[in-house]
Amino acid sequence: MRVFLAGATGAIGRPLAERLLAEGHEVVGTTRDEARAAVLARRGVEPVVLDAFDAPAVHAAVATARPEVVIHQLTTLPQDPTPKSMAAAVSLNARLRRETVPTYVDAARAAGARRVIAQSISFVTKPDGRPVHDEEAPLWADEPSQAENVEGVIALEAAVREGTTDPTHPIEGVVMRYGFFYGPGTWYAPDGALATMIRKRRYPIVGSGEGRSSFIHIDDAVDATVRALDPALPSGTYNITDDEPVRAADWIPEAARVMGAKPPRHVPAWLARRVAGDVVVHYGTTLPGNANGRARAAIPGWAPRPWRQGFAEVLG
Ligand SMILES: NC(=O)c1ccc[n+]([C@@H]2O[C@H](COP(=O)([O-])OP(=O)(O)OC[C@H]3O[C@@H](n4cnc5c(N)ncnc54)[C@H](OP(=O)(O)O)[C@@H]3O)[C@@H](O)[C@H]2O)c1
Repeated sequence: MRVFLAGATGAIGRPLAERLLAEGHEVVGTTRDEARAAVLARRGVEPVVLDAFDAPAVHAAVATARPEVVIHQLTTLPQDPTPKSMAAAVSLNARLRRETVPTYVDAARAAGARRVIAQSISFVTKPDGRPVHDEEAPLWADEPSQAENVEGVIALEAAVREGTTDPTHPIEGVVMRYGFFYGPGTWYAPDGALATMIRKRRYPIVGSGEGRSSFIHIDDAVDATVRALDPALPSGTYNITDDEPVRAADWIPEAARVMGAKPPRHVPAWLARRVAGDVVVHYGTTLPGNANGRARAAIPGWAPRPWRQGFAEVLG
């Protein structure tokens, strides 16, 4: 199958391109950088150098590639996610979702592609006391510290959905709401920024530690995405997370343990809020986990490894 991969150089784009090529697909992959394009070409990807905000360039590239499936894996996130660097990244990342996903959906439809698949995130639902949310839970757009990020997510998902219902040129549309990536090339790689903070005891348990994270090994995210090329998978939104949402009070000590580090410190929520901000306190104390039942039922053969096993493999 011919696949157009927007973002072939990112944390998921790299292993996804490799896996697609290994399965015999033809991959046209984008980057903004000539040197990275040369690396892609050496790996067997047909590289395209473009900035996704340049809509005419996107249209021309997709039309030239004539892909069956277009996959959008664009983000613009820091390698070192401090509260400051994340706050600085939010606006551009939201703009990337808001503006470039509609462009890619339009370009895919104009080029006669069958399906578009787009990267979203699962950890944006509104806390309501339930520990785990499925895809129907409302997103938390009415919380000021989350609004810009969540509005970007809402816009990207709406663009994919609207592509499926367009009366003239409908296209199949799949939104992959990935959980927190871990594994090679992510924040939770052994040399990744968050793993390093945990090792140095600079990633504390905040307050109650009741915030629940749903993790996904990057290879299991890739596996779900490759399986989503299958026309049998219905258009829709899928949580791509493991089976076991886990409390911060449980996963941070386990990550420290497998790395042979000292247990994490505890800090009260008021102090974390003052030092690191509302989002960090939310993740630590009130974040709902995510249920993956819809994806498990709809994607035959997809079996994400449990975070505890994956952490041991990656960080042990
Ligand atoms: N669900 C999650 O937990 C999640 C999701 C995403 C990212 N992250 C984390 O965020 C960190 C950084 O992510 P990353 O390594 O994937 O890097 P990134 O800087 O977010 O880039 C991702 C991809 O988007 C492309 N891109 C960004 N802006 C673009 C634009 N204006 N036009 C065209 N392409 C554009 C990049 O291409 P070029 O730079 O080559 O042009 C790259 O291929 C990683 O640690 C990752 O694990 C986590």
